[in-house]
Amino acid sequence: MNEKIFSSYPERISWNGTQSRREVLRMAGAACLVLGGMSCAGMTRAGMVEPVGKSAAGGLTAAEREVLRLASLAPSGHNTQPWTVRVVGKGRWVIGFDAARALPAVDPGNRELLLSLGAFLENLVLAAGAMGMRAEYSVMAGKPHDRDVLEVRLEEDRKSQDRTGTIIARRTIRKGMLMREIASADLASLCGKDSSAIFLSHGSAGAEWIAGSTMEANRAQAYRNEAQEELANWIRWRDADVMKHRNGLTPAGMEIDGIAGWFVRHFYDRGSVLEKDFRERTVDLVAGQVREGGGWIVMTSRDSTVPELVETGRRFQRLLLGARERMIAVHPMTQALEEAPWRTEAARAIGADGSVQFILRVGYVTRYPDPVSPRMPVEWFVTSSS
Ligand SMILES: Cc1cc2nc3c(=O)[nH]c(=O)nc-3n(C[C@H](O)[C@H](O)[C@H](O)COP(=O)(O)O)c2cc1C
Repeated sequence: MNEKIFSSYPERISWNGTQSRREVLRMAGAACLVLGGMSCAGMTRAGMVEPVGKSAAGGLTAAEREVLRLASLAPSGHNTQPWTVRVVGKGRWVIGFDAARALPAVDPGNRELLLSLGAFLENLVLAAGAMGMRAEYSVMAGKPHDRDVLEVRLEEDRKSQDRTGTIIARRTIRKGMLMREIASADLASLCGKDSSAIFLSHGSAGAEWIAGSTMEANRAQAYRNEAQEELANWIRWRDADVMKHRNGLTPAGMEIDGIAGWFVRHFYDRGSVLEKDFRERTVDLVAGQVREGGGWIVMTSRDSTVPELVETGRRFQRLLLGARERMIAVHPMTQALEEAPWRTEAARAIGADGSVQFILRVGYVTRYPDPVSPRMPVEWFVTSSS
C-alpha cells in the first residue's frame, strides 16, 4: 500500500500505529463494500446546497440571497468562512467577521481573514453584476480587528458578464498537478500586466526558496501546539459534524478519498491530529507537493492596510476564477507567511516589492474535480439590524 495515500491541507494525516496498516485497510475496504460505495464517498457539496429562492434571511430578496450564497463560495483559511452580513437597509449591507471564526494561532493579525473577505467581496460583485445589480462598496475598518469591515450598496444596473458557473465550479486542488510548464498566454492572463502577481518556475532561485521555506515552515507549524490545536478544531472528520457545522476542513476537501477517506471519517478524531505521527506525515507530504506542478505564483500588495488586503483578496479570487477556466489548479500554501523567520524574509528572498500576501502552487490538471468543501447556509451568517 502506498504510504502517501493521504493528501494535504494539513497534509497531516497519520496512522495511530497500533494496527498494521495493511490490516486496517483490508478491514476498511471490506466495510466499504458491505456498506456500499455511497458511504465511502463522504459528503459532497451538492448534497448540502439548499434550493435557490428559499425564503430569505434579514428581509433579503431571493436574488440578494443568491448573491450572498455565491459570495460564500469564496475560499477561506481552514474554510472557516469568517464573513458576516448585517442588512442595514434595502440593498445595504455591512460585511464583517465572526471572531469565533478567526484563526488567532496562525493569523493573529487577521491578514488572511481580510484576504478571505476580499475574495467573498469579489464573488459578491460578480454575482450581483450577473443578476443586474451593481455593488458599490467602501471600507469601514481602519484596523484589522475592527468588526465592521465593508459597507456594500446594491443598485439596479445592466447585467454584466455571467461568471457564476465558474464561481460554482472553482475549488482548491492539492493533488495531481501536472509538471507541465504554464503557457505564457495563460500566465499573462492570470498575472496581468502589473508586478503584483509574480510567476516563479521550478528551478528558479525564488521557487527554490519557496519550496524550502514552505517545507520548513510546515515543519515548524506542525510542532507549534497552538497552531496544531487550532487546526484540529477545524477538521470535521465525521459526516455528522460536516452537516452540523457546514464549515472547516473535511476529508473530501483534503482529498483523502476512497478507503482511506472512509477510514479517517470513522476512526480519526481531534486527538489524531495532535499525534506525532500525524505531524511527521504532514512534513513528508509537503516535501512531495512542493516539487509538483508548473511553478508558483506569488501575490503581493503595497502594504497590509485593510483596503489593500481586501483588494488583494479580490485580485486573488479573480486569479482563481481565471485559473479554473484554464484547467489550472491552485493550491495556496500559506505556512511560510505565518511562521517566523520566513514571513519577514519572503519579499526580499523572492525579489518582490511590497508585502507578500499569497504563495500559490499552480499546475494544469487533466480533470478538474467537483467542489466538495461545505458552505454554511446564508441564514447562518446574515442578520438584520431592523
Ligand atoms: C487566506 C487563505 C489561506 C489558505 N491557506 C491554505 C494552506 O495553507 N493550505 C491549503 O491546503 N489550503 C489553503 N487555503 C485554501 C482553503 O483551505 C480552502 O479555500 C477552503 O478549505 C475551502 O475550500 P475550496 O477552496 O475548495 O472552496 C487557503 C485559503 C485562503 C483564502
